[in-house]
Amino acid sequence: MISTTDPTTANPIYFHDYHPTPSDLRAEVLAGLGRSRKQLSPKWFYDAEGSKLFDAICELPEYYPTRTEIAILREHGAEMAQRLGREALLVELGSGSSLKIRVLLEALQPALYMPVDISSEHLQQSAQALAATFPKLEVHAVCADYSTPFELPVDDHQHPRAAFFPGSSIGNFEPTDAEQLLRRVGAILGPEGRLLIGVDLIKDRERLERAYNDAAGVTAAFNMNLLSRINRELDGGFDLSCFRHEAFFNVEQSRIEMHLLSTCDQQVEVAGETFSFREGETVHTECSHKYSVDGFHALAARAGFQPEQVWTDPEQLFSVHCLVYRP
Ligand code: AVJ
Repeated sequence: MISTTDPTTANPIYFHDYHPTPSDLRAEVLAGLGRSRKQLSPKWFYDAEGSKLFDAICELPEYYPTRTEIAILREHGAEMAQRLGREALLVELGSGSSLKIRVLLEALQPALYMPVDISSEHLQQSAQALAATFPKLEVHAVCADYSTPFELPVDDHQHPRAAFFPGSSIGNFEPTDAEQLLRRVGAILGPEGRLLIGVDLIKDRERLERAYNDAAGVTAAFNMNLLSRINRELDGGFDLSCFRHEAFFNVEQSRIEMHLLSTCDQQVEVAGETFSFREGETVHTECSHKYSVDGFHALAARAGFQPEQVWTDPEQLFSVHCLVYRP
């Protein structure tokens, strides 16, 4: 554990580094490219460059989730804060730039804020920026991969616990994995702990596919950055001009799938191993599951969470749920 105190703010910022080591990336990439259906986890998108590209995606006109969720948080923040309670130990999963929590902090007044993110530099910068605007807030930044079990770095049981999981990142998980993740969040929260979670809703195919195939090509760059990252960090030999971005809605599975498609027969070396790609073969890089309100409630119930309240926008594009853990 490394704790740093930022001299420019009054409040201490603690930085707890469980950072996924380069060997995790290496092992997962080699295993994923070695499968008959090549696959890489979307969590590897978020190096410093990928985190910047993701922030750019959130500003795109086609990418409705971010601005819709923020509008819901703005409109109903007071009610949400009331549900979650003041003086809580507030854990945020996948905090990224910590922009959304800013909308709620004034109303929420947590005793401790614990952003958890896989991207180390980005997390530290965001935590510092946040601490500067909220000088009374104690911030414990946790660099960890929340898709695997991890422990909270503080032994605090005097505050009620709450979790914030915005952005519909839960959609990145297969439904059974999502259920398992929620169960682990429940274990961190304890009985009666509240979870505020953003979930993207099922809608027409055109709207969904446009959000993942933006005209400016930012989502394509975000997807392709995974290959650049492998080139940078794993001594990879991907020629980016021989792959292209692909994203489509898989109706049966109710999910957007993103792939990197090989535009020719080719061999690529990564970390000393050689992988063959046929023309048209893809590496599956992301799933983004979409739910109905009822479908999500059913999943949450299987993980021990009961719905307390759900807020949506007038167009029913996105939902924010307050769930209570009652296993
Ligand atoms: C951060 C996982 C919610 O699935 O919409 C955006 C990631 N990928 N554009 C999503 C993403 C391509 C995003 N999540």
